[in-house]
Amino acid sequence: MHSLTLGAVALLVGSVTAQCDVAVLQQTAADYLSTSTTGTFKLSSADAVTYTENGKTANIKTGILSKALKISHNRTLYDTVQCAIYTELIAPDNTPPYVIGTQVGLDAASGKVKKMESIITSTGDWFFDAKNTLSYSLKEDRSVIPEAKRDTRAVIKAAGDAYLDLFSDKSVKVPWGSPCTRIEGGRQFTPDCSVGVPNNVKLVNRRYVCDETVGTCDILLSFGGATGMPDSHEFRIEGGKIKLVHTITGKA
Ligand SMILES: *[C@@H]1O[C@H](CO)[C@@H](O)[C@H](O)[C@H]1NC(C)=O
Repeated sequence: MHSLTLGAVALLVGSVTAQCDVAVLQQTAADYLSTSTTGTFKLSSADAVTYTENGKTANIKTGILSKALKISHNRTLYDTVQCAIYTELIAPDNTPPYVIGTQVGLDAASGKVKKMESIITSTGDWFFDAKNTLSYSLKEDRSVIPEAKRDTRAVIKAAGDAYLDLFSDKSVKVPWGSPCTRIEGGRQFTPDCSVGVPNNVKLVNRRYVCDETVGTCDILLSFGGATGMPDSHEFRIEGGKIKLVHTITGKA
């Protein structure tokens, strides 16, 4: 018993503690996908769920989750430390077409959904073109990073934050990858992700979902101060450098 305790302590010191089993998160992702494709609510949720669409409190029963969507592509980050997932849905053949980024936070003890926030974009939104988003996304390397080469959560998060800080502070050193490819709405920028970053824009109220196995953090934020546009910026980091960026920006 004594040596077991010591072993557990050594593990805790060596890595950030997982709060949730990845299987619970995978089930949540499957339930979310099933809800999105059928329009029938399949998620196991707590009594009180914080639910927003494009940054505004919405009705979980009558919002986007009540629509059966024709989805062409989905990809999920599993954050076992925070007990959360982030799923990107690309639905160019739905009427209307959608690209949706959703963070789902679970209660670690019960495994039930306690918070859900979606950025929902469609025709008319910033550079929206779901067909392009899909074809560019399918070309990306989203493979699992071998354990020995994995960046820490802190490194991945700091790289994403540096990029976001650059919008208001040009002195920030951003660890650009070369090449780096950004899909901004339905437009692709490559091999240089530093092009077209404006100045004097504050990216605030950042909420993170990170998955070290794929070197990726998704950050939901408010673009242009507290009343700015609802936005998702997702970063894939390899060897400490930013390799892929996805942005999904809704209407304020
Ligand atoms: C979600 O993506 C997986 C592959 O990553 C695929 O097998 C599955 O069919 C997709 N589900 C939907 C509803 O599109």
